[in-house]
Amino acid sequence: MNQLELIRALPKAELHVHIEGTFEPELMFEIAQRNQIAIPYQSVEDVRQAYNFHNLQSFLDIYYAGANVLIHEQDFYDLAWAYFEKCAEDYVVHTEMFFDPQTHTDRGIAFEVVINGLQRACDDALEKLGISSRLIMCFLRHLSEEAAFETLAQALPFKEQIIAVGLDSSEMGHPPSKFERVFAKARELGFLIVAHAGEEGPAQYVWEALDLLKVNRIDHGVRSEEDAQLMQRLIAEKMPLTVCPLSNLKLRVVDNMAQHNIRRLLQQGVHVTVNSDDPSYFGGYMNDNFIAITEALDLSNAELKQLAMNSFEASFMPETEKQKWKLQIQNLS
Ligand code: ADE
Ligand code: ZN
Repeated sequence: MNQLELIRALPKAELHVHIEGTFEPELMFEIAQRNQIAIPYQSVEDVRQAYNFHNLQSFLDIYYAGANVLIHEQDFYDLAWAYFEKCAEDYVVHTEMFFDPQTHTDRGIAFEVVINGLQRACDDALEKLGISSRLIMCFLRHLSEEAAFETLAQALPFKEQIIAVGLDSSEMGHPPSKFERVFAKARELGFLIVAHAGEEGPAQYVWEALDLLKVNRIDHGVRSEEDAQLMQRLIAEKMPLTVCPLSNLKLRVVDNMAQHNIRRLLQQGVHVTVNSDDPSYFGGYMNDNFIAITEALDLSNAELKQLAMNSFEASFMPETEKQKWKLQIQNLS
């Protein structure tokens, strides 16, 4: 099997995808129209033209604006269902999706509208496509600690449907330490913990995510390479980094894919996984990410298999399920 065939044949778990970041312009137009909400674009082409980011903030401004057309439970269902169809095409058999409740509750959309729509799509994905999934609720770090506490309280009636709590949005100037107390509360309540750190922010933010938030995984974390001691810690603890290559390229975390450090991280023994982050905005879903790094970094079949293995190992799936998929990967030639 060549590398491209192997990428297609590998079962994969996606551990870093923002459901609001899977919003394709075609669906955005359709939902805007049915909800009679004006959007500042004339056409789908117009929308894609606007996806011309130069850093995280310039992306986030457009990403939050796009989410404004989501009003009804069915809108959230349609959004997630469209993503599950992409998963099926890429042989993503398990996904742990972020959602940003504050993006919606701050516009007057009830928490339950958001989660009920997403959950129904998750249930249908299991039944109709055989894809398992979990939901991860993220706090927006540009908002206050108090707002995060309020969001945590709103999530409690839906605790069984949320596996973990995460931290996303504008990284610079909003270190993990700002949210130490609310994450302590979330842990106490039994949620697993993840956090974006070391995407644009420094290695120091990764230390804080480990030491103060006590994360189970780091999202991105690619800037950890700047700190040798941190690298040792990540390797020793087998701490997963959910890396998003096309995102890093689009947001200029790297200048070109040949400079991406995912292969070096893997070779040094860091538990890296491949993910799409906001695929509608960054030019590709799971397999596009695999293909981009394979072409730029000449990954071997053994490395591709290791990345797919890592995705299951780092997932929050039951152990027996993990074993099943890892065996399937081992058996691929
Ligand atoms: N929200 C959506 N995508 C994000 C990213 N790559 N970093 C931080 N917050 C995000
Ligand atoms: Zn992200």
